[in-house]
Amino acid sequence: MARKVVIAGNWKMNKTASEGKALVEALKETTKGICPNCADIIVCPPFTTLVSVIEAAKGSNIKVGAQNIHWADNGAFTGEIAGNMLKELGVEYVIIGHSERRQYFGETDETVNLRLKAALKNDLKPIVCIGELLEERESGATEKVLFTQLDGGLKDISAADMEKIILAYEPVWAIGTGKTATPDIAEETHKYIRSFLADKYGKEVADKIVIQYGGSMKAENAEALVGQADIDGGLIGGAALKADSFTALIENAIAGAKNK
Ligand code: 13P
Repeated sequence: MARKVVIAGNWKMNKTASEGKALVEALKETTKGICPNCADIIVCPPFTTLVSVIEAAKGSNIKVGAQNIHWADNGAFTGEIAGNMLKELGVEYVIIGHSERRQYFGETDETVNLRLKAALKNDLKPIVCIGELLEERESGATEKVLFTQLDGGLKDISAADMEKIILAYEPVWAIGTGKTATPDIAEETHKYIRSFLADKYGKEVADKIVIQYGGSMKAENAEALVGQADIDGGLIGGAALKADSFTALIENAIAGAKNK
């Protein structure tokens, strides 16, 4: 079955409010020719850049996501942001459990699960990240690691809610390193993730879930990656920070999807 291509730019800790506005204004021009039904285009700026980006994206096909969400509705959680704060701004998506959050900020499968439930409660579309470390891949533990992340991260999530979730498979060894998983390796892993979903939710639900690839994805490899049966788009770091490179990547991903 055909799933829509979904390309999200994770800007990470880059772009001030004015820089973000300028990037979205440039993207509005460069992505004008991309048919809205061919791909969902999402940008995920830092919290402080959300307002200017949401304003700049109005009237375009560019959708906006945040990079994190706290699980509580409000309270004594210094430095955190709640779901209703994002929703009120007009945020549509939220990245949860990125490997940098897991690596540097103590994110666990349990906190991923709590944040995921908060996103769903606030009617935000979650992009849940999973992925193995280099030593885990090299020791043959990839599927075990992904099983644990999926099992914990998706705990108590119903099939109806699962259909609202995007998964992003990001092998940690491929993030920001220039080392992309080959299309075959990425596809093999995506296939495993979809088989996990089929076991838990049934094939019909599993076939609907968008699974993005992330990790050194760029215009040059987007067509081959998204040309794979189970790769439905990308979560993009470095290549999302410039309008030209992000647009070329989206166009090539759409071309890849057409080759399936
Ligand atoms: P790069 O595209 O810079 O490797 O980053 C990938 C990523 O972590 C997106 O969330």
